[in-house]
Amino acid sequence: MTPAEWLTAKLHEISLRHQRPASADCIYLASEALKLVEDSRGHRWCAQIVTCPGRDSVLSQTQNSVAQSDWPAPVEVTMQPIQWPVGWPSTSNHYRNALQRAWDSGADWSLIIEDDVLVGKHLWHNLSTWWPVVSGQIHFASLFCPHLIRDPFEREFPELGYRLGSRARVRGPRGAGWQHNRLWGSQGYLFSRYGLERFLAEWDSTTGGQDARAVTIALRNHWPLWYAMPDFVQHNPLVSAFSTPQAYSTDCDVNYRAPDHVRVGEYRHGDGVSGWLTYDEGRTLWEMARGLRALELGRYEGRSTVSLAQSALFLVSVDTSSSQRAQWWLEKFVSDRKPETTHLLECDFAELPKRYPEPIFEFVFIDGDHTAAAVERDVATVLPLLTPGALLAFHDYLEAGHPDVQPTVDRLAIRHSWKRVRQVGRLAVFSS
Ligand SMILES: C[S@@+](CC[C@H](N)C(=O)[O-])C[C@H]1O[C@@H](n2cnc3c(N)ncnc32)[C@H](O)[C@@H]1O
Repeated sequence: MTPAEWLTAKLHEISLRHQRPASADCIYLASEALKLVEDSRGHRWCAQIVTCPGRDSVLSQTQNSVAQSDWPAPVEVTMQPIQWPVGWPSTSNHYRNALQRAWDSGADWSLIIEDDVLVGKHLWHNLSTWWPVVSGQIHFASLFCPHLIRDPFEREFPELGYRLGSRARVRGPRGAGWQHNRLWGSQGYLFSRYGLERFLAEWDSTTGGQDARAVTIALRNHWPLWYAMPDFVQHNPLVSAFSTPQAYSTDCDVNYRAPDHVRVGEYRHGDGVSGWLTYDEGRTLWEMARGLRALELGRYEGRSTVSLAQSALFLVSVDTSSSQRAQWWLEKFVSDRKPETTHLLECDFAELPKRYPEPIFEFVFIDGDHTAAAVERDVATVLPLLTPGALLAFHDYLEAGHPDVQPTVDRLAIRHSWKRVRQVGRLAVFSS
């Protein structure tokens, strides 16, 4: 008897014995509590395969592929109760139970795969060393994207092993063509603990299958739509339970093993850090502050701080608000940076001249308040701190929501004879 046949027989037996009502909890294969495995950073992981009765052959292929992978423990099977009617409502309720089961395990990271996938041989290595995981940026990520979707990604970062799904593809047509025009496919999902908390809180206020619910919840929470690059799992659609089209990953290679370390010298954007700075703007800051003594006015949660800290020789970041979040992100993004080269000050910009009476900064990024008076005041504060020829970068230049910034900066540029050296998105950079 195969494990899957044994499972089906066992479930029949259990459900007859307990006479469970249709709303009963899931019946689990291995044990009631999911087993946890620990990665090299001490983070605890759980993994489960969700399935429903009658899918023995496809399930056993999924189990076999997991057994052949480097996943350090058996991946448990969470079976939909046998008495639940076949259909999307049951499948979604069942998925919710799997989320609950993951939550109850206390895991830091929870993997849920469907019963019709083939996982890569190095799944554990690829996930536990994945940059979006190691940097603590993700709450929800997909390990698979169907080949049928047109332009599913907004941006791709092969050097960091991830890509971001297109937010424009979260809601697509319900009728013909849906499979080409919206993000779908829940073959492999990864959740942080906070991600699980949000999913459980919001699951019942969304509709559709788990894929539609997942991307809706991610969008509502303003999370990037993280996808593995290349896909870490392949679809193995031997049996189509809901007559969805057969779909495959375009680039899953079961032998793929991610490089052990993020390559030194690659720009890492704070996609998961709250803030407004775009990738192109952050990358420009990173390029232009390289090797310089840099000053940041306005850090918020640290999105621009992590861009600057990746290349600046010395960085002083100033904000009245707490530096705790930015500090946390810096530890993830630039763990190798010497602590004495970064100072996160919690004070008003006006206090800077007292702390730095000499002109020592070669680069300043100004992103505080965006009224004309504030921009004028911030520039007046920093000018005595800048070395001759220093660069001044302004954010929210040409931003409709902040109409004062561009005319004020242009006026100041004429007054001080600054030369415009770069303009990217809403970032304008001048040399003094
Ligand atoms: C637009 S946010 C900065 C966003 C940040 N650069 C990023 O990339 O996410 C502006 C920040 O400037 C801070 N700020 C504004 N005026 C300030 C002042 N006079 N002194 C200190 N901080 C100030 C605010 O507390 C706020 O966190």
